[in-house]
Amino acid sequence: MTSGGDCSGLNSIIRAAFIRTKGLGYELFGFKHGLRGLASKNPEYVVLDDKNCDESMLSTAGSLICSDTVWMSSTIESGKTIDDIKKMIYKGYEDLSLSGLICVGGDGSLCLINELLIGNEELKIVVVPKTIDNDVNNTDFSIGFYTALEIVVEAIENVRSTAKSHERVMVVEVMGRDAGFIAMYAGIASGADIILVPEFEYDIEKVKQKVMHCFKNGKNYCIVVVSESVEAKDFKHDEEFVNGVMKYSHLTYKGIGQHLVSLIKETGLESRCITLGHTQRGGRTSINDRLLGTLFGIEAVNLIDRGDCGKLLIFSGNRLKSINVVDAMRDVNKFLTIDDECVKAAKALGVYVGEV
Ligand code: F6P
Repeated sequence: MTSGGDCSGLNSIIRAAFIRTKGLGYELFGFKHGLRGLASKNPEYVVLDDKNCDESMLSTAGSLICSDTVWMSSTIESGKTIDDIKKMIYKGYEDLSLSGLICVGGDGSLCLINELLIGNEELKIVVVPKTIDNDVNNTDFSIGFYTALEIVVEAIENVRSTAKSHERVMVVEVMGRDAGFIAMYAGIASGADIILVPEFEYDIEKVKQKVMHCFKNGKNYCIVVVSESVEAKDFKHDEEFVNGVMKYSHLTYKGIGQHLVSLIKETGLESRCITLGHTQRGGRTSINDRLLGTLFGIEAVNLIDRGDCGKLLIFSGNRLKSINVVDAMRDVNKFLTIDDECVKAAKALGVYVGEV
């Protein structure tokens, strides 16, 4: 199953898992809409075969078997408890006599799979990390991150011509939830002047000074990349809770880009914002995500075949590894730090990244 927000690269995992399961003599079912498909009274699934898992899957964004971000919170809102949900999932797994379950998901899915495994340690589950945000801890990269970077870099390059022609400050708002990886990595790869991320505090006066510097030094335009969850003195994001539970709910961030434009205009310069939104989750799958997705898909099946389950697959130091889901839960998310090589590079390049 693919669970949580979609991204490019999911289909590469599905295809590789299909080929590997077939080679080992299993059948592969794709549960539709993540856990919802398995937990339904009549489980909804797609039987994966040579026709629907052909090579075009390598480059096609989205998920052939669909994904879901709202089932968990809406089921809780309807009055079900986490235990009820665990029972529903367990029943689906038992009724279908599954040999194992590959859950491709992000931090939210990892939390749920961890809950599910408590008391049900016999379930053979492997979690594969995916998220454009790249905020799943322990793995260097998650599926979808590199394709998102390609999209953001291309978009910044496309607005640079307008920035130059009109001598404007272009603010590009990118996704990433509470982590600034997309903004930082894409900002560096596209030559941005200012990169604002949730991890580092910034001084709006220094932002304005940097903007003015770009114009005083004859460059006459400026590119600002900002992560969606960044806040400002007069701009805060509201948290949403579902029955008091935050970790399964889905917080939507929007508006900081436009707010920054209003602040930057106080310098007297022209400024515009573009918000890239869900374009970052689509696009032709990058080579990195095709390769990583293929490696993950094969290894997830290998782990289930070996009975080496209850694991999160990770890619670390150029090696495929796995760690216990329960250990992965100690620090589910990762964030940018001042020791990140890209942060160091940004500072060395003179990019304003906040007060660090
Ligand atoms: O976690 C992936 C992500 O794209 C975040 O970057 C973003 O905040 C969120 O999902 C958007 O979710 P939705 O598709 O529900 O609006």
